[in-house]
Amino acid sequence: MVRSSITGLLGALLLASAIRAENITSDAHFYGESPPVYPSPEATGTGPWAIAYGKARTFVASLTAEEKVNLTAGITADSGCAGSIPAIPRVGFPGLCVTDAGNGVRGTDFVNAWSSGLHVGASWNKRLARQRAIHLGYEYRQKGVNVALGPVVGPIGRVAEGGRNWEGFSADPYQSGVLVYETVEGIQSTGVGACTKHFIANEQETNRNPETDDQGEYVESLSSNIDDRTMHELYLWPFQDAVLAGSASIMCSYQRINNSYGCQNSKVLNGLLKEELGFQGYVMTDWYAQHGGIASANAGLDMAMPHSDFWNSNLTDAIANGTMEASRLDDMATRIIATWYHLGQDTYFPDPGLGMPKDVDAEHQRVIATSPASKDTLLQSAIEGHVLVKNTDGALPLKSPRLVSVFGYDAKGPDALQFNTISFQSSYPAIQRNHTLWVGGGSGENSPAYVDAPIDALQRQAYEDGSSILWNFDSIDPQLDSTSDVCLVFINSYATESQDRPGLTDQYSDTLVTNVANKCKNTVVVLHNAGIRLVDAWVEHENVTAVIFAHLPGQDTGRAVVDLLYGRANPSGRLPYTVARQAEDYGSLLHPAQREGDYWLFPQSNFSEGVLIDYRAFDAQNITPRYEFGYGLSYTTFDYSDLQTRRSNVSTTAYPPNATIEQGGNPHLWDEILTVSARVSNTGVVDGDEVPQLYLGIPNGPVRQLRGFDKVRIVAGESTPVAFPLTRRDLSVWDVDAQQWHLQEGEYKVYLGSSSRDLPLSGTFSI
Ligand code: BGC
Repeated sequence: MVRSSITGLLGALLLASAIRAENITSDAHFYGESPPVYPSPEATGTGPWAIAYGKARTFVASLTAEEKVNLTAGITADSGCAGSIPAIPRVGFPGLCVTDAGNGVRGTDFVNAWSSGLHVGASWNKRLARQRAIHLGYEYRQKGVNVALGPVVGPIGRVAEGGRNWEGFSADPYQSGVLVYETVEGIQSTGVGACTKHFIANEQETNRNPETDDQGEYVESLSSNIDDRTMHELYLWPFQDAVLAGSASIMCSYQRINNSYGCQNSKVLNGLLKEELGFQGYVMTDWYAQHGGIASANAGLDMAMPHSDFWNSNLTDAIANGTMEASRLDDMATRIIATWYHLGQDTYFPDPGLGMPKDVDAEHQRVIATSPASKDTLLQSAIEGHVLVKNTDGALPLKSPRLVSVFGYDAKGPDALQFNTISFQSSYPAIQRNHTLWVGGGSGENSPAYVDAPIDALQRQAYEDGSSILWNFDSIDPQLDSTSDVCLVFINSYATESQDRPGLTDQYSDTLVTNVANKCKNTVVVLHNAGIRLVDAWVEHENVTAVIFAHLPGQDTGRAVVDLLYGRANPSGRLPYTVARQAEDYGSLLHPAQREGDYWLFPQSNFSEGVLIDYRAFDAQNITPRYEFGYGLSYTTFDYSDLQTRRSNVSTTAYPPNATIEQGGNPHLWDEILTVSARVSNTGVVDGDEVPQLYLGIPNGPVRQLRGFDKVRIVAGESTPVAFPLTRRDLSVWDVDAQQWHLQEGEYKVYLGSSSRDLPLSGTFSI
């Protein structure tokens, strides 16, 4: 204990001098150039980690140097896991199995395909996010997976066409932070570790990895160039919440940050994550993202996956020749073993990889991870991420239609379903034309126990209510039976890991919708979208009476949308991103950055917009979106009244004296300074869930930033109080000179309402 606190202090002093040496003069600090931060801070075993660290230190002290090294990199094993840490039988350590992803256990059978991150974001429901995570964690546990490779809060969604934005929750850091906190705690409550990824600024797929170009020249991965304030207020923010929740692991990213590779960047790993945020878990590479040996260890990397081309016996050689401290290897091993103890995996946990088959034909133990207890949460999670954006004259819910016509490729189920297939690419990059889209592509795609496609659920509906149904999935200009009461058109917008999206619309689907709408007076469009999808080509067509952004609901997709269409459920989703009227409105944040000019071999992406992404950019430039961030309709209506602010007795005159860093950072960041409250009424005739949203205009910050939200069920005709406690961090701006969060002098603006632009209540306060 004594030794480690002295090292911690020494580390802090060295860190402070490293930062001072940079001579901070402006917001551009750290821009394009990543400052060195050494040595790597040793975990302190603070707060809830104390007991686990006590055990881990004793355990690691009993290991040989080689055994310690074996903990720091995966091995090639026929385990069925994405990554495997070998067992050390001599001391009773069974090894570790780590596997994707944030929305379901990948590559195995008898698991559920849960709603994706973006769908969770669109549901704006903290309690549901936690329930989903608990059930998800249970499935990982049953399968013998020690660490789930998720959730995702990077990318956050800076680039509108980003290929992996659907894996994360929201383009807003506060919303992402709240949902990742619930998710990490939920997963870890089952004894499974969360590996929150990808740290950090992994905002596009294009050039995410180094490659050899046509000329045979080695091209480095993209560098995300970010200033210090933007780093804190936007990209680091949700990771801070993940660390606060105790995330066992953090996955470092493929691309470079300020020209230094994500998995050997001492500023982000040693400086931000381990020193400033007090991270007690371990840093794991993204797959094959290790590009240096001792440099990566000294920069704060703890575990290389799926194996290391660099470490192994070189680590012990480096200790012998003085290029690496023995204490660094001890810290790597201790962090890994401490999480194992902290999660209780030493007392009872299924054998690593127990339910994970190597390939589709392999013999494996049948482990049923799906639980009847998860059914309600699975369906509710699927329902709540649907966002109703247009509903002319109450077209929805449907009123007992007799003849229902169904069009579009996205209504049908897949032709084949195999439990370990991963389709990284669709034959049509913009859409998944082979079947309904319930998840995006890549490592986040898991195999469902079943897929309830929209057409399956619609046929059950016809069976139940004696109606009749007609369909045509393949024609772009289908014939219509003119006696149809409603035409349902199902289209999608695909996205996958490893490539960015070719655009935010596609000609085929737009033509299909227009053709149907030209013939059918009551055309309802359901759009499964793995990211932003523009709809201006047809949304104002007078026959398009209703539109649902259906996102990525997981395997209960059909049942969920039919419950909404028929009014058994009331839509309560809200957009976690901005839908523009035209693609150009996203400006320089529409397309991913490309290799160019002098930087061909060292591609650069300058995050010069700072924190102004998504709605903050639209607000700053006064651009009217088609559907703003936070927007979504219900079958009922809501009214807001009685805005109040109440100060707590926390002093704000001086910054609290330096506190010991806990997991999540300075504990004073969570002091509650002020509470905003109001009353929300359901003024319609059906019960419904409202998502009251609190935005602040913080002095010296963007026009508005989300700083509170809730989801409340309100019976028709009734009202309910809502309250939003605001912490020091919520009310602060990152001060680059002081390297602290600081409350601002001047007037804060408060806005409360049902979206980022429908804000009936407003006020001000000063601190
Ligand atoms: C992805 C990670 C994933 C890993 C293991 C990588 O390509 O970027 O998100 O966890 O593969 O499958």
